[in-house]
Amino acid sequence: MSTSSEPDLNVAVREMFDAISPRYDLLNRLLSASLDRSWRNRAVALLPPAGRVLDLCAGTGDLSLVLRRRMGPEAAVVSADFSRRMLLLALPKVAGALGQGGGVVQADARSLPWPARSYDAVAVAFGIRNVYPPAAGLREIARVLRPGGHLLVLEFFGPRQGYLRPLFSLYFRHLLPRLGRLVSGDSQAYRYLPESVARFADRQEFARLLAEAGLRQVQSLELSGGIATAILARREGE
Ligand SMILES: C[S@@+](CC[C@H](N)C(=O)[O-])C[C@H]1O[C@@H](n2cnc3c(N)ncnc32)[C@H](O)[C@@H]1O
Repeated sequence: MSTSSEPDLNVAVREMFDAISPRYDLLNRLLSASLDRSWRNRAVALLPPAGRVLDLCAGTGDLSLVLRRRMGPEAAVVSADFSRRMLLLALPKVAGALGQGGGVVQADARSLPWPARSYDAVAVAFGIRNVYPPAAGLREIARVLRPGGHLLVLEFFGPRQGYLRPLFSLYFRHLLPRLGRLVSGDSQAYRYLPESVARFADRQEFARLLAEAGLRQVQSLELSGGIATAILARREGE
């Protein structure tokens, strides 16, 4: 994928998620005090009904299950991720919940294996920040979405201001990497999380990246004081 001699960060990201996959769900619950579940539920509630839905950067499949409940039995849900080990953990959870035409697919967000306009909705939870560059992922998402289809992004942008901001920073920079290392045994992975949040676009930049990809932000919902944010965008065009 990388055309220059620079190392492809995406390879390191995939290896990291492969490595932490066995502890990923447990760490999610612990590190977010189980808030991650309610964030996914509240985010998915923003999506209008859709027949064919892609859960991109699906990881161990938690968002796919919420999408299934939201979209009803007729919808096809496809769970895609480039980490084989994350998908192997998703398989038993989502099997039977993806609907006719649904499935689990190993795919890179920067080069999706579907024709243009294949999906009515795409959802990405805590994933787009890990795609380098995020614009490459957004372009592919816009390509596979039908015009008028929706993208839902759930991501950490950090609280805007007020008392939560320094607390968020303290937790993300200092406590979370230590807790993550204790439980996962991987010192690198949970240092990567705060670094990736710091490096990622802020809300304004992200709206601009969406617009450049042909996606217009239509709604934004701050969760738990803005620790996580759900963004709904609509694919422009005819
Ligand atoms: C923090 S996890 C989120 C998983 C899941 N969406 C959730 O809510 O728990 C990020 C996931 O994005 C995947 N990912 C990162 N970059 C990717 C890329 N370029 N293409 C496909 N998947 C990618 C990783 O393998 C990982 O499973």
